[in-house]
Amino acid sequence: MARRTKVYEGKAKILYEGPEPGTYVQYFKDDTSAGDGAKKAQIEGKGVLNNRLSEYFMSGLNEIGVPTHFIKRINMREQLIRAVEIIPLEVVVRNVAAGSISKRLGIEEGTALPRPIVEFYYKNDDLHDPLVSEEHILAFGWATHQDLDDIVALALRVNDFLSGVMMGVGIKLVDFKIEIGRIYDGDFMRLVVADEISPDSCRLWDAKTGQKLDKDVFRRDLGNLSEAYTEVARRLGVMPSNATPITKPKLMN
Ligand SMILES: Nc1ncnc2c1ncn2[C@@H]1O[C@H](COP(=O)(O)OP(=O)(O)OP(=O)(O)O)[C@@H](O)[C@H]1O
Ligand SMILES: [Mg+2]
Repeated sequence: MARRTKVYEGKAKILYEGPEPGTYVQYFKDDTSAGDGAKKAQIEGKGVLNNRLSEYFMSGLNEIGVPTHFIKRINMREQLIRAVEIIPLEVVVRNVAAGSISKRLGIEEGTALPRPIVEFYYKNDDLHDPLVSEEHILAFGWATHQDLDDIVALALRVNDFLSGVMMGVGIKLVDFKIEIGRIYDGDFMRLVVADEISPDSCRLWDAKTGQKLDKDVFRRDLGNLSEAYTEVARRLGVMPSNATPITKPKLMN
């Protein structure tokens, strides 16, 4: 196979130049990290699961008219995406208090929030992705007022979609993070959901037992991460329940 041009290698994914201009191939690695890379591990099969799950969520969003970068899955670990200009923000939507909001504001983990809360973090590992306000975003020119309105609307539509899908399989969507990118069509610019949507970027709790089915299993040493992700995929019908992708990858179309 011809050598591909690597565009970017991050902690969890690699971007390669795609077959057409304006496209990338996104490769999902098994590498797992937490605390800005302070804690690292290889979790066999994680990339396969996240590739499938991100495909599932992004294509579902495309179908209901929420634009995303996703074009199609290519193989077990790769998907074809639209190349976008990433807005340097992590957009977080919270339905239930957990993680940093609980620490920062002293709200007990598991407390239902009165309404979904949208937060922005500046994407900068050296600064540990600090929380920023709309004032910072506008003042530093990361996004305009109009962009912010559109980003919040997109984030809330993603929240409604994901919450519904998850609740349908007995999982509570506690919070999630998305990234937003710009696509230019001549004089027009549109915002789309980019990066990934997977248990790496969501908090997912079993609706009955509260069992964690997301990256907190790794962050907090709560058990087997690939089992947790496999359970999410199994409930969503994304992977057959008897699949053994963890040890024996099979070729799929
Ligand atoms: N459609 C897209 N077009 C361009 N870049 C994208 C697209 N989707 C995601 N990205 C970027 O590709 C990278 C994915 O790699 P990964 O998630 O492993 O990075 P990371 O280690 O989390 O680092 P970063 O701080 O850059 O997010 C991220 O920088 C993300 O912003
Ligand atoms: Mg990332």
